[in-house]
Amino acid sequence: MSKRQPKWLDNAVFYEIYPQSFNDTNADGIGDLQGIIEKLDYIKELGCNAIWINPCFDSPFNDAGYDVRDYKKVAPRYGTNEDLKRVFDEAHKRDMHVLLDLVPGHTSVEHPWFKESMKPEKNEYTDRFVWTDHVFMDTKGMNTLRAISDRDGCAVLNFFSSQPALNYGFYKQEEPWQQGMDDPGPEATRLAIQDVMRFWLKMGCDGFRVDMAAWCVKNDDENRTGNIYFWNKVGKFLDEEFPDAAMVSEWGNPDQSLQGGFHMDFQLMGQGTNYEDLFRCDEPYFSSRGKGNFKAYAERYNKSVAATEGKGLICIPSGNHDIDRLARRLKGNELKMAFAFLLSMPGAPFIYYGDEIGMNYVEGLISKEGGYQRTGSRTPMQWDDGLNDGFSTADPKDLYIKMDDAPDRPNVKAQMADPGSLWNEVRRLIKIRKENVALRSKAKVEFLETGYPLVLKRSCKEQAITVIINPTNEEKTVDVHGTIIYACGSAKLENGKCHVGAGTAVFIEN
Ligand code: GLC
Ligand code: CA
Repeated sequence: MSKRQPKWLDNAVFYEIYPQSFNDTNADGIGDLQGIIEKLDYIKELGCNAIWINPCFDSPFNDAGYDVRDYKKVAPRYGTNEDLKRVFDEAHKRDMHVLLDLVPGHTSVEHPWFKESMKPEKNEYTDRFVWTDHVFMDTKGMNTLRAISDRDGCAVLNFFSSQPALNYGFYKQEEPWQQGMDDPGPEATRLAIQDVMRFWLKMGCDGFRVDMAAWCVKNDDENRTGNIYFWNKVGKFLDEEFPDAAMVSEWGNPDQSLQGGFHMDFQLMGQGTNYEDLFRCDEPYFSSRGKGNFKAYAERYNKSVAATEGKGLICIPSGNHDIDRLARRLKGNELKMAFAFLLSMPGAPFIYYGDEIGMNYVEGLISKEGGYQRTGSRTPMQWDDGLNDGFSTADPKDLYIKMDDAPDRPNVKAQMADPGSLWNEVRRLIKIRKENVALRSKAKVEFLETGYPLVLKRSCKEQAITVIINPTNEEKTVDVHGTIIYACGSAKLENGKCHVGAGTAVFIEN
């Protein structure tokens, strides 16, 4: 995957779907693939041309499907493999692309591979997972499942206790039970996971979001040399068989992941990215009470750009199934300011379902399927003002997670009808982005002002656009020439000065 950059990423805007909570079409209280198909036109109308679906494979659901029991089978609660193929086909008919979620690092304890690997007799799966040699031995600080079978050993865990780590070897081998990255066991695991990728890519899937991509090889150095090495091997397979497949990593450090051949990574989890400062701290930058440090964010961002130049895309998501909803800290017009930024930055934007209407983080929910505090960001989509807000016709007590019951909760129907809504602003922003090359994935960005207002310049050889975002309560004035091509709020441009009202975002073609 290293040599190519699928062309469609240049102008891609993604929509992340947590399938459980998106749209239920058979009244069992849980979203399904048919529900996704029925909303493809909606997603397209919003302007998104690609989707990422969280794991939809057979699973006991101890971690919302990130604990896979069968990589090649759609979980019956969502439908069948045929239905997933229809998702691909229906999306393609609409010029949209579909990424599935690949979980290469671990399976569920219920996966047949793991059950085989628990057996004391040596078999094909003995080395599929990371095991110590004996139960009574030092596990070198790794979390393990201890004494769970007659096999004399502890199985290393990747995340929850039901998620044993698949064996891709160790970068630094310090114990006899730690295999090398090119040893037969790790190589067989790689081939097995490539086989899973091949299965879905052949069916029509356009690529993968890769779960915990930076942690497949164990005992890595701080540059993640081992994991970069591993993903380049997978990349060779993709180059040969599926040169158009798009790969986005959950790595959180594009400086490293893009060297591993990923086309995109999320800039958010890496230490010191200051992403939280913009959207998710007590006084986020994109709020009228903002104290968040944009300067530090910009410096970190520029460093990543320098380190990755041309290799791939740094993507900034509106949110995801693991973090707080954008609307937990940002309210009303502030959300529009945040989206003006998210949708005018390089990389491919990722919109988490429901963020386009400002769905709430629902406080105080009981954990569902390993969600814990993440559960509040995973509540059912609010489509309209009907039963269960149009998500499902099931009895409310049978819903996967209960609906947000805030009286002022937003819904799609009302926002589509209101020209001043967040939904309509997001739609306008996506449209303007797609129509202007300087706003797309690959055009450069330069941060001209990092206090208030934020001034950034996007440019490529055909075009230059100045983006000004003023989340404060006061009007600001910026020296700039050109023509206003987009404004949310009040902006006036005359004699080389742009007067940018409180809570306003404006794009100026220079
Ligand atoms: C990733 C997923 C998260 C999951 C974890 C373990 O971080 O995004 O939801 O719990 O991996 O697979
Ligand atoms: Ca259903």
